[in-house]
Amino acid sequence: MRTEVAIVGAGPAGLLLSHLLARAGVESVVVESRSQEYVASRIRAGILEHSSVELLTEAGLGDRLRAEGHEHRGVYLQWPHKRHHLDFVDLAGRSVWVYGQTEVQKDLVAAHSGPVLYEVSDTRLHDLTTDRPYVTFRDRDGAAVKLEASVIAGCDGSFGPSRAAVPASARQVFERTYPYSWLGILADVAPSTDELIYAWHPDGFALHSMRSETVSRLYLQVPNGTDAAAWSDAQVWDELAKRLGHGQDGWTLAPGPITDKSVLPMRSFVQTPMRYGRLFLAGDAAHIVPPTGAKGLNLAIADVALLSRALIALVKERDAGPADRYSDDALRRVWRCTHFSWWMTTMLHASGDPFDAELQLSQLRWVTTSIAGATGLAENYAGLPI
Ligand code: PHB
Repeated sequence: MRTEVAIVGAGPAGLLLSHLLARAGVESVVVESRSQEYVASRIRAGILEHSSVELLTEAGLGDRLRAEGHEHRGVYLQWPHKRHHLDFVDLAGRSVWVYGQTEVQKDLVAAHSGPVLYEVSDTRLHDLTTDRPYVTFRDRDGAAVKLEASVIAGCDGSFGPSRAAVPASARQVFERTYPYSWLGILADVAPSTDELIYAWHPDGFALHSMRSETVSRLYLQVPNGTDAAAWSDAQVWDELAKRLGHGQDGWTLAPGPITDKSVLPMRSFVQTPMRYGRLFLAGDAAHIVPPTGAKGLNLAIADVALLSRALIALVKERDAGPADRYSDDALRRVWRCTHFSWWMTTMLHASGDPFDAELQLSQLRWVTTSIAGATGLAENYAGLPI
């Protein structure tokens, strides 16, 4: 098989890239190791920043988002006995949208027309520093396939073959692990809040998010190594009620049937550069952020916006300039979001150290009462223009 752009990974980064390339008349083939059902049902992030919504809309993918998603002006930040609303629209002129990654994925699958080969195995990348790179794999029936391309886009996450295909001598890896995880639940209950609540609590962070008028998504900080099954539904709701301030100023948390319970590790990770020869990395293949800043999906979309333009210029106009600048351009935003995600994480999670707790509370008072502090948070959360 031969195509212009071989895309490894059919998650939001890979499918969006393929969609944007197709709109410019650039052909691609997408290969994916999982099944279509698995990719479509993975529970992931729920917040789209302003520029992600703009980009999806311009790409013709905004109809259901605007009809079924919910625009939020900001978020609540709280600690015991205090809840503050930060209005991003007033502070930074930009809103965010609640619309699950699973919904973005469905819209991408519905809009996609080119070939996507699911359930491939043994995917390998070859000859990346030549102008005839190729990918080999076994298709779902076990037949060996060679896919030749002008360029390869690695959109296959941090455990996929693309990132690993860059020799150790040609890459630098930056990593930070955190001494806590999130226990996330999905529940069939109307959200108890109009906008997201990020709660600092001496016993650990809690987050009240949502997916729709009838589905809530909530998280609790838990120790690393926690087994989700060790938490009963009643324990989860009791702990959420305590940390989110049930009963304070008349606010109540409504519990409901829990339909999913899982533990998410927290990690910061960046691999540079985001290019090796004819291989370009985008999304989780190049960087992972902890979920506290709601940046993972948004960063992937921003990477793909840059990469699609770079590849269109390279393939259609034989202009290598944007491709040569891709890694540096993308990494500026990646490091801003890496810092913001680390900063939100360290501001909101209990470490067990009383000195840390006092610094966190002081910082929370500052970002909620100072226009400068609040604007900084708003600008980063609602996202800078791509
Ligand atoms: C989510 O709804 O899953 C969500 C929202 C905000 C975050 C992280 C996760 O910061």
